Amino acid sequence: MKKQKILIIGGGGREHAIGWKVAQSKQKVELFFAPGNAGTAMLGTNINIGATDISKLIEFAKKKINLTLALPDDPLALGIVDSFQEQNLRIWGPTKAASELEWSKAYAKDFMGRHNIPTAKYKTFNNFEEAKIYVEKHSLPVVVKASGLALGKGVTVAQTHEKAMVTLKKIFIDKIFGAAGNEVVIEEFLSGTEISIHALSDGKNWKIFPPSQDHKRIYNGDMGPNTGGMGTIAPLPFVDSTLIKKIEKEIIAPTIQDMAKEGRPFVGCLYPGIMLTIEGSKVFEFNSRFGDPETQTYMRLLETDILDMFDACIDGTLDKIKIEWKNLSACTIVLASEGYPGNYEKGKVISGIEDAEKNTDVVIFHAGTKTENGKLITNGGRVLGVSAIGKNLEEALATAYNAVSKIKFDGMQYRKDIGKKALKYLVT
Ligand code: AMP
Ligand code: GLY
Repeated sequence: MKKQKILIIGGGGREHAIGWKVAQSKQKVELFFAPGNAGTAMLGTNINIGATDISKLIEFAKKKINLTLALPDDPLALGIVDSFQEQNLRIWGPTKAASELEWSKAYAKDFMGRHNIPTAKYKTFNNFEEAKIYVEKHSLPVVVKASGLALGKGVTVAQTHEKAMVTLKKIFIDKIFGAAGNEVVIEEFLSGTEISIHALSDGKNWKIFPPSQDHKRIYNGDMGPNTGGMGTIAPLPFVDSTLIKKIEKEIIAPTIQDMAKEGRPFVGCLYPGIMLTIEGSKVFEFNSRFGDPETQTYMRLLETDILDMFDACIDGTLDKIKIEWKNLSACTIVLASEGYPGNYEKGKVISGIEDAEKNTDVVIFHAGTKTENGKLITNGGRVLGVSAIGKNLEEALATAYNAVSKIKFDGMQYRKDIGKKALKYLVT
């Protein structure tokens, strides 16, 4: 069998986890990561090209690569998939037009409106004055969102009109998100339980993953500012197959079918953030990629060869394959730098990974790490994702937290309550 040379774009925990799974393919593979991290360097070769440097990535892919996996949001929004396809390079991911579901919240809301996909009531604005008048009369809490990509910081849930006003000023006048704040979506607050849904699609067929749940706030008890995600669990004991079927029918099916009808077939991973409300499931955001750290948890449960899944998406044959999952639970606990999601220092020495991985149910995925003078050091806000599997959620969490206790670096912070709410549901 000829060796498949695969390029994975990105350098976080998601990319390490996908690389880890690709390395287990029945196909012979050689892996490259742009730019990767210290964890991906153990699976393949890190190349010194940023995830958004599309012309350099194309140059590299032309020389060496059979398949590229476009995982992060920024290169998708820049049209990496379109650019590779124009050069006849094989790439997995949605086009710029398809990924607009993520990079423009204004577009996503209008799309959902056109196709009756359940979401929060909203209005879109492109100037401060009109937004201000609208927000003053809005019921509280009110949600203010920069329409474009804002590193997960573009959403404010305002409990007072003053807070909403200050947020609008920061976005429109101070331009804290630059052009990503040229448009603002103001929407009603959805109260309920947040879950993450992932569905793989080839543009016409789709396969839904088990439901998962992220914990986005930095502190225990869902307190403090939003982060990229501090920990995930899957599957969810409180989501049954009837609810999944309903979400598939009301949200996934119309999104895939109507994107195709609008000439933007969605090939890739569609990841809606969904609020389970008393009025039913509603979309609070669309992502056009795998979640991070949802992916780290999913990869621990996935049985099927992931290269078969990527190939089926690109070739339009997703209906021909079966995606199988282990009959287990999995979780990922994120270990972050002191100060994250605000400013943080880098370069702290990390110890204990080998010890933690002595338990074969544990896999540590790297995110912000690098090796310097033979030492593993921190190199980002989210540093490691400690994942574990178990025969149920309780067991997976106990194993993961035991592994966490073995890992150390200066200022290490993590949430102690990942999965706790889901466990409580099991007891009551
Ligand atoms: P996002 O940056 O779109 O992932 O949103 C960040 C977080 O804001 C989400 O995880 C939700 O907790 C919250 N959020 C977004 N939209 C709403 C909404 N309409 N109602 C309540 N919470 C929301
Ligand atoms: N899990 C949060 C995200 O990937 O956006």
